[in-house]
Amino acid sequence: MLSAESLKKIDRELAKYPADQKQSAVMPALIIAQDEKGWLATETMNFVAQYLGMAPVAVYEVATFYNMYNLEPVGRNKISICTCLPCGLQGSLDAAEHLKARLGIDFNQTTADGKFTLKEGECMGACAMAPVVVVNDKKMYDYLSNAKIDALIDALSDQLGSR
Ligand code: FES
Repeated sequence: MLSAESLKKIDRELAKYPADQKQSAVMPALIIAQDEKGWLATETMNFVAQYLGMAPVAVYEVATFYNMYNLEPVGRNKISICTCLPCGLQGSLDAAEHLKARLGIDFNQTTADGKFTLKEGECMGACAMAPVVVVNDKKMYDYLSNAKIDALIDALSDQLGSR
């Protein structure tokens, strides 16, 4: 279900906790599984549950609570923009509209070429640096003007090339 490399990474997380507390590693285990698969299908979550000795429903509870987990397939770049109030008061709603227009999609949609999915994010702890986006739940970009958004989309698109 998961590659040997991913299992090794999960084992590394498990080593941080007592042997009878394997469930403590559920969040990183889900991230590792998602990094490999791109999203968390029910079978993937079931596998993680089995690997950690947890009830599947306990894994679903975690995966459905946090919006960094993808419960359906996403584009190769998932762009999450914070639209919470502090960011909203500092231009993030306009930035979100610019992103939608630039990508030609709404929130929770993926571009036809599969390169981008746009998501509405919750506070990313960078309220003073709005507007902020996180790409693929890993890398943050802040103080975004429309020009910086365009440059980011161009750079991410170029990275993918014709893949
Ligand atoms: S409200 Fe947007 S990062 Fe905190």
